[in-house]
Amino acid sequence: MRIDILTIFPPFFDSPLSEGIIHRARERGLLDLRVHDLRSWATDRHRVTDDAPYGGGAGMVMKPEPLFTALEQLRAENPGARTVLLSPQGRVWSQALVREHGALPGLILVCGRYEGVDERVIEALIDEEISIGDYVLTGGEAAALVIVETVAREVPGVVGQADSVRRDSFFDGLLDHPHYTRPAEFRGRRVPEVLLSGDHAAIERWRRREALRQTLRKRPDLLDGAALTDHDRAQLERIKAGDAGET
Ligand SMILES: C[S@@+](CC[C@H](N)C(=O)[O-])C[C@H]1O[C@@H](n2cnc3c(N)ncnc32)[C@H](O)[C@@H]1O
Repeated sequence: MRIDILTIFPPFFDSPLSEGIIHRARERGLLDLRVHDLRSWATDRHRVTDDAPYGGGAGMVMKPEPLFTALEQLRAENPGARTVLLSPQGRVWSQALVREHGALPGLILVCGRYEGVDERVIEALIDEEISIGDYVLTGGEAAALVIVETVAREVPGVVGQADSVRRDSFFDGLLDHPHYTRPAEFRGRRVPEVLLSGDHAAIERWRRREALRQTLRKRPDLLDGAALTDHDRAQLERIKAGDAGET
């Protein structure tokens, strides 16, 4: 998958895109990530990319000319890509959107700054606006990183074990189950016996039940949209009634 990022602060991405899973995915050719400096499409001597707003008021607006020429070029180079403006006014990012965007051949992520971009850019060249939440960031760069990191996990081979993605929170509408590692007992707290039993079927049942329990306790709103079996619903009733639930 090719992802182009258009920004006036390319160094913002240096470290996050050069570490860990993203770095390995780039090295293995699974992700083609390209960070572009919008200023290189500015034609004036000072490489200016913003100007004062028509109508007056505080703040600056990102100028249309460099954005138009940059996006026309990037869209031609990355055909099939969806051009996304990071914006607090966009669809709110979620695991469902991660899945939708992870299936695309490419993305072009446009990072706004100041008061945002000239509206004509949005009308002509932006396919979609995406927000990472109902709050306002200083710029779209942090939001673009969230998109890259989450979408990368959808690309086959990026996360070592596909099974670990399947179990992550939100994958099937539930939160993840609790995790434990060695030692089996630490400061008087013991790891649940079933996890030490070697009984894989019992471990699976325990994990499902604890995922239901975590979701009920921390994010009960998710249960309405989760894919639950009759057995899951019965488990939830037992958990609500204070039973340990069956294993
Ligand atoms: C200070 S904000 C501009 C906010 C804009 N005046 C508004 O109220 O809609 C500057 C840039 O940060 C980015 N940004 C801010 N909040 C964001 C959010 N919640 N999700 C995604 N991008 C965001 C956008 O690219 C935006 O153009």
